[in-house]
Amino acid sequence: MLPNPYTPGRPAQVLGGRTRERARIASLLERVETLGEYAGPLHVFHAPRGLGKTSLLRSAEREAASRGFATVWVSATRRGNVAAELTHALRTSLERLDSIGSRDLAAFGLHLSKVELQLGVPGAGVRASVERSRDGGTAPEPVTPAEAPVSGLESVLRDSAALVRGSGGAGLALFVDEVHAADRAGLGVVLNALQNLDGASSAAPLAAMFAGLPNTPEVIIDAATFGERSQWLPLDRLDDDDSAVALVRPAADAGVDWDHAARRRVVSDAAGYPYFLQLLGSTTWDVAAPDPGAVLELDHVRAGYRDAREQLGSLFRARWSKASPGQQEFLVAMVELMLEHGTDDVERAGVARRLGRTTREISVPRDRLIAQDVIEPTGRGLLRFTMPGFAGFVAEEAGIDGAERLQAPARFPEL
Ligand SMILES: Nc1ncnc2c1ncn2[C@@H]1O[C@H](COP(=O)(O)OP(=O)(O)OP(=O)(O)O)[C@@H](O)[C@H]1O
Ligand SMILES: [Mg+2]
Repeated sequence: MLPNPYTPGRPAQVLGGRTRERARIASLLERVETLGEYAGPLHVFHAPRGLGKTSLLRSAEREAASRGFATVWVSATRRGNVAAELTHALRTSLERLDSIGSRDLAAFGLHLSKVELQLGVPGAGVRASVERSRDGGTAPEPVTPAEAPVSGLESVLRDSAALVRGSGGAGLALFVDEVHAADRAGLGVVLNALQNLDGASSAAPLAAMFAGLPNTPEVIIDAATFGERSQWLPLDRLDDDDSAVALVRPAADAGVDWDHAARRRVVSDAAGYPYFLQLLGSTTWDVAAPDPGAVLELDHVRAGYRDAREQLGSLFRARWSKASPGQQEFLVAMVELMLEHGTDDVERAGVARRLGRTTREISVPRDRLIAQDVIEPTGRGLLRFTMPGFAGFVAEEAGIDGAERLQAPARFPEL
């Protein structure tokens, strides 16, 4: 039996679609390679959970590495300092490069330690004093606290990009995932440093790409107003052709085929949602346990649905039980309106009316649900569920009549 090539819940190795996004990434990297300077503006991918931001960013990282970039990856967290984490990841990335001589690296390490100190990177104090004594005991120059981190990070980025370039590489490629969770202060430092490099006279061969949930643009603009000049790149669900590629290619690479009917079924039920394609691909594969040359058929798909539903059931249940009674009430009202109007998007004002409150009174559960990424605003006072199938789960959980009338993706199909 061949190993399962599908990746539900893990970054995809084979991307279906995303051709336009990948072309933009390639052209950004190419500009750094050719011109040897910072290629702005900052590229920011944003989308609800599970649409493939991390997968795309990881593929960009592979692309950058194959073009000779030193790559630096950070996944922001609520409790971290994204500027400090970036500096730390930068150190690790440079240390991994064989092309940089140990003398250059040691000199650079000292410079880096000073910035790590300013940013409060854990362990930086010890590292700095070790490096300082090796260097002949020079003390770091005094700095103004407010300015220090930005100019420190800026110079560290410029110098390391030049170091990579000078040793035969293309430059530096920075990737920050989960940007919506980044701390405001740290994100401000990173954005300001990049902004300064963009306008700088001395070249910094560097590219930066960010990814995060749909509120990422607000988070970025809140951290630095000029952030609004970023290149915003929303990711959408995949169309049927791209879904088919995402489903068929991983199997084909292992010499296994999808029968036409089986493929159509999964592509239609996944409704362009990459996580569902991987999940259904995976459960179908496990049932079929194929050898090279085998064909995946509708029967395998059907049998695999049981597993898929079980996995989704636990996922949905966790989301549901995390919601407060007020939030659950809000979600139920949304599903009722979806059924009433036969649409995926519902009006915020309609939810308020149904609950007998004003829109202001429902703003707390609404904002919490958006922050937890259970629902998302789709413009002009409209809201929708982020995850296909969850509305159907809510309908069943709350015993709402007519739940079977919900269409995919609002309802995960029963076979
Ligand atoms: N273009 C694609 N083709 C095929 N599968 C994909 C694609 N993009 C994502 N996937 C799959 O979809 C799922 C979600 O992908 P990923 O983790 O990249 O999404 P995300 O947007 O980063 O989600 P989150 O917001 O939860 O971090 C994974 O199982 C991944 O393998
Ligand atoms: Mg992700």
